[in-house]
Amino acid sequence: MARIIGTGSYLPRSIVTNKEMEKYVDTTDEWIVTRTGIKERHMSQSDENTGDLAYEAAARALKNAGIGAKELSYILVATTTPQSLVPNTSCYVQARLGAVNASCLDLNAACTGFIYGLEVAEALLNLPDMGFILVIGAEVLTKITDFEDRSTCVLFGDGAGAAVLTKGDGIKGIITGSDGTKAACLNTGTFPVSNVLTGEKPFEHLVHMDGKEVYKFAVNILPEAMKAAVARGNGNIHELDHIIPHQANIRIIEAASKRLDIPMEKFFINIEKTGNTSAASIAIALDEMNQNHALRNGDRIALVGFGGGLTYGAVYLEWNM
Ligand code: COA
Repeated sequence: MARIIGTGSYLPRSIVTNKEMEKYVDTTDEWIVTRTGIKERHMSQSDENTGDLAYEAAARALKNAGIGAKELSYILVATTTPQSLVPNTSCYVQARLGAVNASCLDLNAACTGFIYGLEVAEALLNLPDMGFILVIGAEVLTKITDFEDRSTCVLFGDGAGAAVLTKGDGIKGIITGSDGTKAACLNTGTFPVSNVLTGEKPFEHLVHMDGKEVYKFAVNILPEAMKAAVARGNGNIHELDHIIPHQANIRIIEAASKRLDIPMEKFFINIEKTGNTSAASIAIALDEMNQNHALRNGDRIALVGFGGGLTYGAVYLEWNM
């Protein structure tokens, strides 16, 4: 039993339009818009890292929830682009918030990270002495993007979104899943066994993607995951008020709308302004709806994500803030 009592988000100030992407690779605004729905994305500067974005989103979520940082029992940061391997990004956020009573954990389920974070938070809230849990999705994907690869670099953007959870009635059903056999569809390099001993090249961190394979996976799993989460919560997909899908590609969302026979108006879309912000995407979208007063208590909402791993997941909840 868990409910969301506050949300926040942060997008770096610097915006890169499709027109500007034409400077990096052989592409056009028209190609990007028609194939993906993306018009621009935010890009972190060299002095902005994952912890900075996560902190800004977290501070806004705490304010929205009306609680203090010291009341947090746990901080979970979902990210594919941690600020460092040690310490975890969550510890950077804790230090800046002064959340002295919080345990800090990062998790990586690529673009499904925020959904996985909500699932872990819900489970943690069953433990004794858990007050409030902060779940953050934060990414600086442009720092691991290959700006010579036109099929990936136009897709990704940076940002962070956060939600504060506590015990209560809100989340009705969550499902998550993974298919590690499809790891090669979307990945970075792996660590060499020993750089010094073997002379292997250092960690190659840029993202590689088989766009067509990921697309095929996504158009199938988005509807299936959503149906499973809603069924787990004894809901009806045709009674949903809002669907907040991972913002990867407008065509994937349109395909899901058709397959589910649910009109596009029920799907929240902000991909044109953000691009794909991986683990941050659903959290940013949820906050945008909350800040725009688009969510009313009692609204039935599905959050649904998919991404590298390959991973997928969905949450069915009733808004109760
Ligand atoms: N600008 C212009 N042309 C581009 C381009 C770009 N940015 N990127 C690729 N192309 C070209 C290709 O080189 C190819 O040219 P060719 O026919 O001469 O070889 C052509 O466009 C078609 O490429 P294709 O890969 O078939 O395009 P597509 O319709 O499959 O769209 C994606 C590519 C990446 C937009 C699409 O596959 C996709 O969205 N996949 C899912 C990706 C995703 O969401 N990943 C994150 C999941 S969390």
